[in-house]
Amino acid sequence: MDFRLVNWTQAMSVDGGAIDETHRKLISLINRLHLLVNHSADGDSVSNVLCELADYAGAGFLIEEKIMTLSRYNERDQHTIHHWSFIDRLTIFIADFERDVEVGNDMLLFLIRWVAIHLKTHDRLLGDHLLASKKYRFESLGQVETAA
Ligand SMILES: [Fe+2]
Repeated sequence: MDFRLVNWTQAMSVDGGAIDETHRKLISLINRLHLLVNHSADGDSVSNVLCELADYAGAGFLIEEKIMTLSRYNERDQHTIHHWSFIDRLTIFIADFERDVEVGNDMLLFLIRWVAIHLKTHDRLLGDHLLASKKYRFESLGQVETAA
């Protein structure tokens, strides 16, 4: 089965800062995983990227959730549930992979679909909220500052 790689585009921009940076990195990791799986890379290489993906996604989601809290975003809880559904599913894929269960194509399909849906729906709405509020500015990754 062939899956297209995901590409970050300006149309996916949420805040022009920390959130976009985490999304670009997340997409880059998914594309690395895609290449490894499709080139039948060794298990350790795939496992390393899977762990990096889980760690990075978790850290990135926490940054988004902090921004949602600070900007008093009303849809924070629903958005957060969608984030953690990703971590839950990815954790199951990793556990299956570590037990030598064949997960490659199902996992890639899940990751690509989840990112596409999440960025176009939940993150788009968050971006609109941040643009409308203009109460906060978000600079480099991990930094959240109240605008002067
Ligand atoms: Fe999000």
